[in-house]
Amino acid sequence: MSSEARGTRRPLVSGNWKMHHDHLAAIRTVSDLGLRLDPAAVADLDVSVHPPFCDLRSVQTVVEDRAIPVLLGAQHCHPADEGAYTGEVSPPMLARLGVRHVIVGHSERRQLFGQSDEVVAATLRAVLRHAMTPIVCVGETAEERDQGITADRLAAQVQAAFTKLPAAQAATVVVAYEPIWAMGTGHTATADDAQQACAHIRAVLSGTVGAEAAAAIRIQYGGSVNADNTAELLAQPDVDGLLVGGASLQAASFAAVVDAAVTVVRKTRR
Ligand code: PGA
Repeated sequence: MSSEARGTRRPLVSGNWKMHHDHLAAIRTVSDLGLRLDPAAVADLDVSVHPPFCDLRSVQTVVEDRAIPVLLGAQHCHPADEGAYTGEVSPPMLARLGVRHVIVGHSERRQLFGQSDEVVAATLRAVLRHAMTPIVCVGETAEERDQGITADRLAAQVQAAFTKLPAAQAATVVVAYEPIWAMGTGHTATADDAQQACAHIRAVLSGTVGAEAAAAIRIQYGGSVNADNTAELLAQPDVDGLLVGGASLQAASFAAVVDAAVTVVRKTRR
């Protein structure tokens, strides 16, 4: 299920800009990225950028105009199609803008905005209903890690998101393993830890949506990813991509991550 099947899972490197860059900075950043990414080089993997909502239209225009090889992503959405939800943005609104990937249940949404497992599960389904790809985030806190309950936490989050999801749909979802203690801290999980957690997530997925879907689901690692640790992380058989925060904000550092990823993908494909 792991290393052998990796060839069928197209790596995905995603840049989560969080609440950074107004639309002018976003235009500059994605334009710069367009100058740095060679479409031929990135042909073997997917790259997505996830700007704030107010930047999406601007970034979409630049990406389309200049045929920049990145997929447009969002960081969050509401599960409903429309309604009295002040301040929220719906999946069809994102789909209409050409958004392809939506981060769902990022730990910052879970911790700072009270997003529950139930809301994460509903949002995941809403994103799929509108033919976009959810990137569902799971991860343990430092405390949970110290208590030795990482595996249980990951299993509970994965099961809550995937239970009763038809296998064919589940196979298209991306999971991001993001240990909360590693995010924005400069403390990356070791490649071994990342592999172990991602393999565990795949085993839980197998029990939840079946072995075939689990073998197809892409699992990203996220948490202080940069150009220096990309190769080692992405070389792990169950790590199918990276969710990058801080290092995605500047075109140069994000392009360096993508370049390192391209090198690994080429090596492992050989
Ligand atoms: P980081 O963020 O790369 O800055 O640690 C990752 C994330 O929050 O997705």
